[in-house]
Amino acid sequence: MSAAINPTITALKESSTLAINLKAKKKKWEGQSICHFGFGESPFPIAKGITQALSENADKKAYLPGSGLPELCQAVADYYKKEFAYGYNKNNVLIGPGSKELLFQLLYLLEGMVLIPEGSWVSYKPQATLLGKKTHILQTFSKDNYTLTAKTLQHFCASLSPIEQQKQKVLILNSPNNPTGSIYPDNELKKLAEICQRYRIIVISDEIYAKVVFGDKVHTSIAYYYPEGTIVTGGLSKLFSAGGYRLGVALIPNALSSLYDAMKILISETYSSVSAPIQYAALYAYGQFAMISAYLAKCTRIHQTAIYYVHAKMTELGILSTSPEGAFYLLVDFTPFKEMLYQKGIQTSHELAHFLLEKLNIATLAGSEFYFPENKLCLRLAITDYDGEHVLNHFDAITTISTEQFISEFMPNIYQGITRLSNWVTSELKECIKQ
Ligand SMILES: Cc1ncc(COP(=O)(O)O)c(C=O)c1O
Repeated sequence: MSAAINPTITALKESSTLAINLKAKKKKWEGQSICHFGFGESPFPIAKGITQALSENADKKAYLPGSGLPELCQAVADYYKKEFAYGYNKNNVLIGPGSKELLFQLLYLLEGMVLIPEGSWVSYKPQATLLGKKTHILQTFSKDNYTLTAKTLQHFCASLSPIEQQKQKVLILNSPNNPTGSIYPDNELKKLAEICQRYRIIVISDEIYAKVVFGDKVHTSIAYYYPEGTIVTGGLSKLFSAGGYRLGVALIPNALSSLYDAMKILISETYSSVSAPIQYAALYAYGQFAMISAYLAKCTRIHQTAIYYVHAKMTELGILSTSPEGAFYLLVDFTPFKEMLYQKGIQTSHELAHFLLEKLNIATLAGSEFYFPENKLCLRLAITDYDGEHVLNHFDAITTISTEQFISEFMPNIYQGITRLSNWVTSELKECIKQ
């Protein structure tokens, strides 16, 4: 017997990030030495206070309100007020089983075409497709570190018919960004906000990497300039290194209270509420943030060290790379080696990713998974393949040895991956240039 399946799913495949993770893990189990740049999972232990709160609340077995544990909603609102100066209160907060599920539910409820900038997270478009939504990919450029500009959005909106211009649309922005590691410039967000207001665009601002920011960069948000039309999402997965806890948050402004009410109905008919012990653990994470912020800042400095190192190496090799500003990623572009890659039969980002995995045991993700054209020879590198606890324990060594030495000793998979890539580029690609 075979089951008749909703045909919208047949247009999709398993999420590419999860698929590459399984493929790389399988190769590892087979004994191959894999350098895993394919999957962005924070490698650090969860802060002790959070795990302790989880175990102390293991007996919390009652269903909680669908919108979330009231104390947690309050703590989340306070956290966003204190850390980012947002004006949400506890009645604007929803707790979900990961921000991915909240994004799906928001997209389900919000009418209108979904606008996605090139260089956006892999799941936005498949989610919209599953929900039967029309999507449009907005072009971005390397000179802007692949952030969407107001000019591009304005140009797109002006090209719509007058009826379409007045219909609601949804734009998903993500800063700090996966796959590029870029942060939206504040002045551009201000201009984007004006266009969103003018053309009836509701913004979902995916801020799951907020606070994973490097050097003198600061996280900023379109929510400052367009609070009435912006929904902010976040959660425990990235900054708090707790992806497996599956806890996400959404902040829906008062002006969109009908959406908030609709979400509560949808939650009540779908996941009911997030696991109670996990919500108590999250209550510690958000409520006692000051107790763990130094620890989290240290984790972010380690991300920065690894990512700056990879960025410098890419630049040395002549591979184009986005400027690292935050999150766990870099987008690298092999276009300067296009001719040599063509000679080897590599013409697409998938072919490049496949080659690196099969021939060099380096797992990456093809740029086309992030909505870049398939023939743009770019890859996303997730730079998290190291033992976070070990690195934390030895991070002080960075002051006494060179970054290169530190990476080779404490992040050997990253070091090996970059060394393999360098050897291949210098021996085979640069060699081709000489011929
Ligand atoms: C940009 C972005 N948004 C959302 C998510 C989903 O996070 P969560 O674990 O909260 O579902 C991820 C996870 O990789 C992500 O990279």
